[in-house]
Amino acid sequence: MRLLSVRLIVSLVLGITLVSLCFSYYEVLGEKRALRSDLERRDEILGESLAANLERSWSTGSEGLPDNTPSSGMQRLVQQFGNREHLLGVAVYDRQGAVVAMTPELANRLSASPPPVTQAIAQARQQSSFVRWGSVPVHILALPIRRQDELLGGLAVVHDASYIRTQILRVWRETFFRVLAQVFLIVLVTLQMVRWSVAGPIARAAQWMRALRTGKISFGQEAPDLDMFRPLAREVATMAESLNHARIAAENEARLRDAGESLWTAERLSVQLRTRLGDGRLFVVSNLEPYMHRRNGKALEVVVPPSGLVTALEPVLEACDGTWIAHGNGDADAEVVDAAGRLRVPPDDPRYTLRRIWLTKEEEAVYYYGFANEGLLPLCHIAHTRPLFRADDWQYYREVNRKFATAVFEEIEGVPKPVVLVQDYHFALLPRLIKAKRPDARVAIFWHIPWPNPEAFGICPWQRELVKGLLGADLIGFHIQSHCNNFLETVDRVVESRVDWEHFSALRQDHRTVVRPFPISVAFSNENAAENSNHGFNYLERSALMRSLGVETTFLGIGVDRVDYTKGILERLLAVERFFEKYPSYRGKFTFVQIGAPSRTHIKRYHDLLAEVEAEAERINWRFQGGNWRPIVFLKRQHSHREIEPFYRAADLCLVTSLHDGMNLVAKEFLAARRDESGVLVLSQFTGAARELRDALLVNPYDIDQTAEAIRAALEMEPEDKHVRVQRMRKVIKEHNIYYWAGNLITELCELRLEADEDLQEQFRSSASAA
Ligand code: G6P
Repeated sequence: MRLLSVRLIVSLVLGITLVSLCFSYYEVLGEKRALRSDLERRDEILGESLAANLERSWSTGSEGLPDNTPSSGMQRLVQQFGNREHLLGVAVYDRQGAVVAMTPELANRLSASPPPVTQAIAQARQQSSFVRWGSVPVHILALPIRRQDELLGGLAVVHDASYIRTQILRVWRETFFRVLAQVFLIVLVTLQMVRWSVAGPIARAAQWMRALRTGKISFGQEAPDLDMFRPLAREVATMAESLNHARIAAENEARLRDAGESLWTAERLSVQLRTRLGDGRLFVVSNLEPYMHRRNGKALEVVVPPSGLVTALEPVLEACDGTWIAHGNGDADAEVVDAAGRLRVPPDDPRYTLRRIWLTKEEEAVYYYGFANEGLLPLCHIAHTRPLFRADDWQYYREVNRKFATAVFEEIEGVPKPVVLVQDYHFALLPRLIKAKRPDARVAIFWHIPWPNPEAFGICPWQRELVKGLLGADLIGFHIQSHCNNFLETVDRVVESRVDWEHFSALRQDHRTVVRPFPISVAFSNENAAENSNHGFNYLERSALMRSLGVETTFLGIGVDRVDYTKGILERLLAVERFFEKYPSYRGKFTFVQIGAPSRTHIKRYHDLLAEVEAEAERINWRFQGGNWRPIVFLKRQHSHREIEPFYRAADLCLVTSLHDGMNLVAKEFLAARRDESGVLVLSQFTGAARELRDALLVNPYDIDQTAEAIRAALEMEPEDKHVRVQRMRKVIKEHNIYYWAGNLITELCELRLEADEDLQEQFRSSASAA
């Protein structure tokens, strides 16, 4: 810091001095010019009036001399004029340059006519020049003396100009002192300003960074007043957070190694992916994009859709700097991408590429809302909502799949052995389209929703095309084994193929597709487990939460869903009502909070469902509510993970009553949030999660009484029983977390033998035998 101040002072002194001297130099030059022209002007006035007098006395000569002969009285005249301040003298010459009259001071300096006079006579024009007489600078003004058109002679007015030099020296002296004072004051003020606005904030920033590094403050905590260093502070906070994550990850790894456990972490996934992919690159295709840009007035907002899919795939893409191809759905999405529709994300720490695909309103309405969500979604979920199959929807679905295929080809062009992970029911035709053009690509599709039995699937008029499209993939993943079974049975019935039940694969037109269960999960983290295992914690948090909702209650239940008919929300509310009917002592003591994110509301079924859920909650509330208590709180909006977490942690029970669900990540999120190892999960037996989470209270959501009983059982469960169950279920999620899911899926895909590889082997074998 001291060295910095010395450097700063030296540069300031040099800089200011240089600049001031430049300005002063021009100032002095101006001053000199002004003094000289003032002297010239004065000499001119003097010279002109003397010349007029001389001309007169020349013409009125009284000593019988010719008219053009100067009179001796001129000597008096020049002596009379020569008596002025700084004037060295005056001399008069005749036409030939001989002296006619001269002041005595000039007598020994000016004998013959000096050059300016000779020139003035010769050119009949005034001459002015500055010359040096020894060390004395003088100004000579020479004028011709005329009588009408006749030239009589010349006149020289000689001025001592040394006073100009004295004046200039005085100006330089003043300048010197001014520059000195200026430098001193500017350095003083600058140093003071630097201390206030730079050194102060730097010291505060350093203190704040030290506190961050040593964990005295949390990452969310704003930096102190840092003025212009705020952007730097933001970067530092992100860096400190990454460092802290790295430290925690390293500690976790070390702890796991020490305990002989082998858990999946983001870091392990990253290493695994890099090893498996080698020089291959990873591409993910989904309808939903991980980041959406929206306009909010003049501001640009980045929205992360609250989807399990995003949570699951983001670490995978980050680990290997892959490319995510998705529908650009945000109203400001196009503003932030390059010409090819690409941008780097996450916005504050770019680690992979997002390629946005633009769909017209019509394409979105028909492919997404129509075929995918009014056709395939109810087809695959046995939730008794009739699928709608329209020929137009199917056409658009095919076209949009082709559109995405084109984008995939653009992205994988020139990439050797690309690995492509296609997501979900929006892209059943994509695997075949990709493999047809790029057989060297490894293609997997993960089907996030259930696959029904062949009879149920058979009502789809385009079931053959869908199955053929899927069989283009090298690997098809479902959440659970029974979906794999249903799929292979469907394949067996609808297309020409050989199903290999032993290896769970289907061979069609020399292409093998392997079918496997990969139960999706959440990013379970053990961070700060001790911090939150305090038993009073959820009681306090619950009171604060409920106060914020304006409700007083003792027990809290929570449900979190997109408002979708597959989720069994109405059945859940009926079960809550039944619970209060059967156990009136809980009235005034138990409140069920349903967080419901409106979803796909352009579809009538979804739109109506939202209204029905609201009406049902209102009806039940009206029936039982009293004072500051309500049986149901319906929070109808999308909530972020951060907003939902406190509800998970504070709840006595979580209700997941899907009528049918591929997996259901809410069940796993609830358990992952319960670091206190308490709370009860009531879980529909028709979810994929029910296969893994055997310690939940499993219910048939259609059986309203059974769910009502499960609510009572959950509220009255012994703490020890809750603890053992939650502990066991958390262990399942911890071991089979999202990194395990991604690691397994991609490892399996990368280890498959592709026909393209086999063809190469074959070529190699035949060329070897020919040789
Ligand atoms: C289901 C689907 C996902 C989809 C999510 C959200 O979980 O399996 O593919 O992303 O719902 O649906 P939305 O239609 O709102 O994007």
